[in-house]
Amino acid sequence: MNKVIVPGTFDPITNGHLDIIERAAKLYDQVIVAVAKSAGKNPLFSLEERAELAKDSCLYLKNVEVKTFEGLLVDFAKENDAHIVVKGLRIVSDFEYEFQMAGLNRKLYPEFETLFMMSSHEYMHLSSSQIRELAQMGGEYEELVPECVAKALKNL
Ligand code: PNS
Repeated sequence: MNKVIVPGTFDPITNGHLDIIERAAKLYDQVIVAVAKSAGKNPLFSLEERAELAKDSCLYLKNVEVKTFEGLLVDFAKENDAHIVVKGLRIVSDFEYEFQMAGLNRKLYPEFETLFMMSSHEYMHLSSSQIRELAQMGGEYEELVPECVAKALKNL
């Protein structure tokens, strides 16, 4: 069985993330969405809330499961008997950070592979940080996130 990890902070999960997860789920037998605790960041939603929102958003994808992790992604991958990570690439500015991260992860775990999937055109400029800002400043975001996320943002 081939298995991949789609990791991220998912604060909160957006339709852009879902696009990548859904496309990965068509290509692989099993997808693990790995929600990182992301020490150092000050998330809007707790780790548990982010994981719950990701779970609700992925319910319709039968070969996707959501897990949380703390620490290194390569350790999470080893624990879950996986060595392939799929990441979405949006605008050019993502590339430098992702390129560095992929190289470092490969150094830590030589079998580790990072596969990049181009974001669909409509999500090229969408990020969780923009959604947080829109929500905090009274902008419209309902079309850009799953329904459960829109509800959670309204209840903040
Ligand atoms: O959604 P994000 O914030 O771009 O996701 C980044 C994430 C969580 C995938 C990345 O920061 C990560 O893998 N964090 C775990 C810690 C780690 O393994 N860092 C790389 C070596 S320092």
